[in-house]
Amino acid sequence: GSPACPEVEQSYIMIKPDGVQRGLVGEIISRFEKKGFSLKGLKLFRCPKDLAQEHYKDLKDKPFFPTLIDYITSGPVVCMVCILFTATYFVILSCKAWEGAGVVASARKLIGATNPLQAEPGTIRGDLAVQTGRNVVHGSDSPDNGKREIALWFKEGELCQWESVQTPWLV
Ligand code: TYD
Repeated sequence: GSPACPEVEQSYIMIKPDGVQRGLVGEIISRFEKKGFSLKGLKLFRCPKDLAQEHYKDLKDKPFFPTLIDYITSGPVVCMVCILFTATYFVILSCKAWEGAGVVASARKLIGATNPLQAEPGTIRGDLAVQTGRNVVHGSDSPDNGKREIALWFKEGELCQWESVQTPWLV
């Protein structure tokens, strides 16, 4: 077997119901792929209310909380775990070159500001959205929240254990 991977930084990314219904799934995933992130988890999922409330628990006292929960549970979302690693065959196997650092902050930059009208052109929200309450995508705001959110949205068996995958296509 492969050695256990050291702790890596992972970001939980989610395409919200408006992004799914507007047909933006491919476009949004593509931006993370083109940046150089790798997927460790990916699924279409209808989120129950209690999960949405737990995910956004830090915002539970905000006036927009009920609207936010209705929005997130209004239709299927696409859940993703994004990671960064050096794409060389033997380093993946040895796990030594997994690079966590930066994926969370970098994904936030690709996503852009919460209010899409203030998000820079070139960012996902800047290019594809106009309303804060319909801002098409979520990304973890810290590595700790990344961990927390991935544990909320994914079961262990749904995540790809890349260290056990042989990837000759990347050599
Ligand atoms: P927040 O965590 O502040 O933003 P971000 O998604 O950029 O990390 O807020 C979570 C979501 O709550 C945000 O994506 C959209 C919604 N929201 C509103 O509907 N109205 C608001 O005024 C704010 C700040 C957020």
